Amino acid sequence: MDVRVAAGDLAQHEADVLVVNLFEGVTSPGGGTGAVDQSLGGAISSLIAMGDIRGKAGELTMLHTFGKLRAPRVLVAGLGKEKDFDLDAVRNLSANVVRHLRKPGVKTVATLTHGAGIGGLDPQGAAQAVAEGAVLGGYRFLKHKGTGTKDDDRGEIATLVLVEHTAGKVASLEAGVARGVLLGEATNFARDLANAPSNHLTPGDLAQQAWEMAARSGVECEVLERADMERKGMGSLLSVAKGSHQPPKLVRLSYRGKGGEGYDIALVGKGITFDTGGISIKPAANMEAMKADMTGAASVIAAMQAIAALKPKVDVVAIAPCTENMPGGGATKPGDVVTAMNGRTVEIINTDAEGRLVLCDAISYAKELGARAIVDVATLTGAVSIALGDVCFGVLTNNDGLAAKVEAAAAAAGEKTWRLPMFKEYDELLKSDVADMKNVGTRGAGTIVGAKFLEPFAGDTPWVHLDIAGVDMADKDKGWVSKGASGYSVRTLVNLAVSLGG
Ligand code: BES
Ligand code: ZN
Ligand code: ZN
Repeated sequence: MDVRVAAGDLAQHEADVLVVNLFEGVTSPGGGTGAVDQSLGGAISSLIAMGDIRGKAGELTMLHTFGKLRAPRVLVAGLGKEKDFDLDAVRNLSANVVRHLRKPGVKTVATLTHGAGIGGLDPQGAAQAVAEGAVLGGYRFLKHKGTGTKDDDRGEIATLVLVEHTAGKVASLEAGVARGVLLGEATNFARDLANAPSNHLTPGDLAQQAWEMAARSGVECEVLERADMERKGMGSLLSVAKGSHQPPKLVRLSYRGKGGEGYDIALVGKGITFDTGGISIKPAANMEAMKADMTGAASVIAAMQAIAALKPKVDVVAIAPCTENMPGGGATKPGDVVTAMNGRTVEIINTDAEGRLVLCDAISYAKELGARAIVDVATLTGAVSIALGDVCFGVLTNNDGLAAKVEAAAAAAGEKTWRLPMFKEYDELLKSDVADMKNVGTRGAGTIVGAKFLEPFAGDTPWVHLDIAGVDMADKDKGWVSKGASGYSVRTLVNLAVSLGG
């Protein structure tokens, strides 16, 4: 979708649809909506008077203009109560509008900035939110829909124009739009990777996609092969790959905005391209969802695309340990003991707790590369959905300062987070009789135990663990979230890197 800013009056604009807006409780619209209302002979005001349009959040009313305007249709979007209106509402509304207008005959849409100048929102931020929401709301995964797809299903808005009546404001709004588009596109890239079936996205394919993105974006890419991992002693990561015919890959992407030593931040993402559970095999029901057990890797890879485009003055490395978790003849068996890169021995009690086994070596690798802070992102535990549902993701840390920065970055992205405790009492649960630690606890506190497993690998390095297993896949469209892979955490990671760059 092409998103643009143009100077002029919305009421005079030529497009397939003009989108105007209305706060709840307003009886006589002003501004751009008022001008469109006047051109329509007061049609919007009369519908408000009749009670057919109330401006409630989510209310969308399509009017036909029958020659009164250059545009044949006007969509009146309810903004809800002015006091509840914020950038998250703008982003969600924009996504919902784009989905609503997905129909034959709608190719060009023109709108006000849904908040530039209203509701007290920063105009550039509002323009960004409109663009971001539009790109995110326009997303669909149609790659494998071949014959039999109706044309209606394929209708797309080609152009969205934000019409601004003060010409002097256009440049600033354009900057907001550009940022919104690139954040939206990076998120959609992560969604494409996560929605891909595992036979179309093996660890090798994922590494290839990272490589191609890096080449497009001017980011350095290195892919460690099994032999490289063996040389580095990544026995924990390799133990997960043993049951699969697909070779594991460890992707490293480096962005240098400062050009210093080491890295200000490492973004580490779990890349299990399919998680059967291994020998501790999962039940058949819903196992197909485990094609998305690599959304952490997808997020860190996609975040690098946006970071490279935004060019913050910060040095960032993304690390994605990628493998399948399969129960093949060579697979790791419960009770096996492996040695991780940092020398720690791990007794593998449950081969389905594989995410922590690949992440611990990736965290050690981040430290070897000189990371001064580490954020890992993973679909680590089913328990996080029991605790938090699909409303927010879990944040666990050894450093309150870094966690606060991650939380601020998430809030700016419209992604909700919730902190879970890391009391030392939980360490008990991972004690093993035969090795330095085991990979699962007994029962209870599953998400905390997952983080507790990783904590000693981070050691003294400030570290934040994001458990996104509750939010990474959505069962329906909702605001900026699209059905299927949601793309959660991509914009949080980008905002974080940008904030660290000053
Ligand atoms: N990939 C799963 C976690 C998961 C579950 C993600 C549901 C998304 C939806 C992870 O590898 C796993 O299987 N974790 C186990 C850990 C347990 C064995 C301690 C789990 O959550 O059951
Ligand atoms: Zn698992
Ligand atoms: Zn998993």
